[in-house]
Amino acid sequence: MHIPWDDALQLDIPGMDDEHRILTQLMNQLIEHIRAPKPNEKAIVAMARDIGLFTARHFLHEEHSMAVHHYSGYGSHKREHDRLLVQLDAVSDGLDRDGMTAVDDGLVEFLHGWVVSHIVSQDKAYATFLKHGNHDF
Ligand SMILES: [Fe+2]
Ligand SMILES: [Fe+2]
Repeated sequence: MHIPWDDALQLDIPGMDDEHRILTQLMNQLIEHIRAPKPNEKAIVAMARDIGLFTARHFLHEEHSMAVHHYSGYGSHKREHDRLLVQLDAVSDGLDRDGMTAVDDGLVEFLHGWVVSHIVSQDKAYATFLKHGNHDF
C-alpha cells in the first residue's frame, strides 16, 4: 500500500500542498520500512515519531491560519486534528513498547486512511474557503 500523490490530494493552496506532499512522502517511507523483508525497528520507531512531530507542526500551521481568517469550521477541524494526534501518539507508543509485534495490516491502513481522508474532506473544505475569500494560507 502506497499513498499516491494525485489530483484528489492537490488543493491548489501551495503552502498546504507542500506540507501534505511531505507528509505523504514520510508516510510512504514508513509504510515501505514496515513492509521491508527485515524491518529495522529502531528506524521505524524514529520515523513514526518524526511523522508525529511533522504532523503536529502542520496542524498548528493550519489552525493558526484558520484562526486568523475566522474560519467557522475551526472547532471541528481542530477536534479532528487533536484526535489524529492522539492516534499517532498511540501508534508510536505501541511501536516503542512492542516493536514490530505492534504492526499489523490495520496500522498501515490507518496511516494511509487518515492522511487521505482528512485531506480530501476537512482540508479541502478549508482550502475552498481560502480560495473563495482570496486569503493567503
Ligand atoms: Fe492538512
Ligand atoms: Fe487539517
